[in-house]
This record gives sequence, structure tokens and C-alpha cells, in this order.
Amino acid sequence: MIIGVPKEIKTNENRVALTPAGVLEFSKRNHPVYVQSTAGEGSGFDDDEYEAAGAKILSTIEEVYAVADMIIKVKEPIESEWPLIKPDQLLFTYFHFASYEPLTEAMIKSKAVCLAYETVELPDGSLPLLVPMSEVAGRMAIQEGAKYLEKPVKGRGVLLGGVPGVAPGKVLVLGGGIVGTQAARMAAGLGAEVSILDINLPRLRYLSEVMPPNVNTIFSNEYTIRKMIRDHDLIIGAILIPGAKAPKLITADMLKTMRPGTVLVDVAVDQGGCFETTHPTTHDNPTYIIDHVVHYCVANMPGAVPATSTLALTNATLPYALQLANKGWQKACQDNLPLRKGLNVVNGKVVYQGVADAFGLDYVDVNTVM
Ligand SMILES: NC(=O)c1ccc[n+]([C@@H]2O[C@H](COP(=O)([O-])OP(=O)(O)OC[C@H]3O[C@@H](n4cnc5c(N)ncnc54)[C@H](O)[C@@H]3O)[C@@H](O)[C@H]2O)c1
Repeated sequence: MIIGVPKEIKTNENRVALTPAGVLEFSKRNHPVYVQSTAGEGSGFDDDEYEAAGAKILSTIEEVYAVADMIIKVKEPIESEWPLIKPDQLLFTYFHFASYEPLTEAMIKSKAVCLAYETVELPDGSLPLLVPMSEVAGRMAIQEGAKYLEKPVKGRGVLLGGVPGVAPGKVLVLGGGIVGTQAARMAAGLGAEVSILDINLPRLRYLSEVMPPNVNTIFSNEYTIRKMIRDHDLIIGAILIPGAKAPKLITADMLKTMRPGTVLVDVAVDQGGCFETTHPTTHDNPTYIIDHVVHYCVANMPGAVPATSTLALTNATLPYALQLANKGWQKACQDNLPLRKGLNVVNGKVVYQGVADAFGLDYVDVNTVM
């Protein structure tokens, strides 16, 4: 199968879908790989590295789409790419169809095969191609929070780790899933006093077993949150209720009870956020202040650390991409149920219930198109 790797053209997207290490794996299995020139630049890989691993470099995105049986990307194709997509071409990338109807319509029209990273699902319900980005965002939440706690950027002026003779900063993590666990681990590593709140008791039991001694696990409810936000320096929002908007655990009136310079990092901003005062921000202008409380609400946090994010993402996607190349998408999806769940739009038909429901489109059982 011929593999194509276009350069990402969405604003501020510096990740790339395949590293030179990935190219080598395809080359060893006799799948030719075509990479658009400078596609890996933002993640620290130059064209020479790709060539050394066996790729051929093409100068334009048009050439990559024209030659490839499978396009591997990071973000959904943007409008200028839509006319380049061919019937039967396999697209393996994040699509997030349900949030953008024109993209869904365009992919239906293209008659391509759209396999979405975000809906590949393991039998336990976990989403293996979303986890790596949650891990990155969770760890980054503390790095960013620590930065915005500094006085020159209107934070409280607290050093999270404290120093000998001075107590460390206090970090409150709302939600003990992937993001929350990674955030707590980073904060604990810096020496902060950390509390994780969750409503899932088995999860709290697990966290209490594996977390270091400077992390407390506490059952989440409004009473406790109202009490704890008064004396915590950094508060991380890491809530997820699958398929629903995040609940507003910190309401606007609560900000007045916090100390000036408290920092809120709402990682759940992409699901609407778990603070009432959250609105999405970008890496160019990541924070805003309400009632002397600093809000950091970047919807695409991993985009700021592409060198790490690209490796984290491709570690997870490559095994699936190799199966698709080795077997063809039909056989690979017949053999691998988690991969089959990634199929969203196939040759003009919507085969993912959530996407059909989002826009009132006809749904076709995925088993009838393979
Ligand atoms: N901003 C970004 O760049 C970025 C990147 C990755 C993930 N995210 C988002 O981060 C959020 C968390 O993702 P995740 O992978 O950690 O999800 P997850 O499902 O692993 O964890 C969510 C946790 O929230 C807990 N929870 C639900 N309701 C709660 C409540 N009322 N009080 C306390 N805890 C509650 C759940 O029990 C679960 O443990 C999601 O909204 C995700 O989309 C954002």
C-alpha cells in the first residue's frame, strides 16, 4: 500500500503523523512512503531523516494526495484539502466529525474511507488514540500552571515546591482520570501538596495505592470543592463525562472566595470546561483574568509541545497504521474490532451512529460496508 504523509496546514499545528522511525517500519514491509517536504519540521524531523529511513520527499501536498492509497494525518483535512481526496482513498487521522457538519458532508461526497483516531475503542471502552494527548495535556497543565503562578503574569507569586522552611504550594485536581492522574504526578514531583477529587470510588482507591505520599484522594462534591478552593494555589479541571458537556464544578460566584492570583487551568475546555467562567483560548493568548483569578483554557494544549506530542501520538497510531497497510482496511477492520470502531464514513456512507445522529444523516451498519 502506498502511504502519504502531508504537512499539517491547520493553524499552529506542528505535529506530524509519521516519524522517520515509522517510515522505516513501513519501508521494511515494502510499503512505499511519500512525505511532503518539511512535514516533520515542526516536530524536529528534517527531510533528510525521512529519506534516510526510506521515504520519498514530494514538494507539494497535491502530489502526496495524488499518489497515496492511505493518507496518515494528525488533524482533520481542512477545506483546501477536500478536493484532493480521491474515492476509496483511506484517511487515518483525527476527524471529530460530530463537531463540524461541512467536514462530514465533504467526506461523504469524497467517497473516501475515513477512519477516525478518536473513535478507535478498546473493549473496556478506553480510547487508545486519545489517551496519549490526555497524558501530554495533564503533565503540561502543571508546567503551565506553575508558570502563571508567577507574580509578573498576575499569579499569586507562589513556588509550587516551596523551599526548606517554607511550605509548598497547594494543587487541587478535579477529576482523577488520565489528565488528572498525570497532572497530580507532575505536581507531586515538584513537591507540591496535591489533592485529587473524583466521584469514582474505585478510581480513588487505585490512585491512593499508586500516588506518592504528598497526594491525597478526596471524594468530590460541591461542599468540599467550595471549601478547598479557598486556600489552593493551582486548580486543574480534568473532568470528563463521556458524550456530555462537562459539569460546571466551579461557578462564577466561587471565584470571589479564592485568593487573588489563584490559577485555574481548565483542561476540559474542549468539552465546554468545568468552570463556569471558562472560555477557549489559544497558545498565542492563553490566559485571561476574572475577579483576580488567572484562567488558562487552551483547547489544544499538546500543540505547544509537538516534539513530545508527535512521538506520543505515533507510538499509539503506528501499530494500527501498519495493520491497515499490511491487510488493507477491510481485512484489518474485520480482524480488529477496536480499529473497526474507528470507521466513521465509508464510500459516501455514515457508519458511525454518533455522527449520523449529530446531523440527522442516514446511518449504515459498518458490517455491511466491509
Ligand atoms: N485541552 C486539551 O488540550 C486537552 C487534551 C486532552 C484532553 N482534554 C480533555 O481533558 C478532559 C479529561 O480527559 P481524561 O482523558 O482525563 O478523561 P477521563 O475519562 O480519563 O477522566 C475524567 C475523570 O473525571 C471524573 N469525574 C466525572 N465527573 C466528576 C465530578 N463531578 N467530580 C469529580 N470527578 C468527576 C471521572 O470519574 C473520571 O475519573 C476531557 O474533557 C478531555 O477532552 C483536553
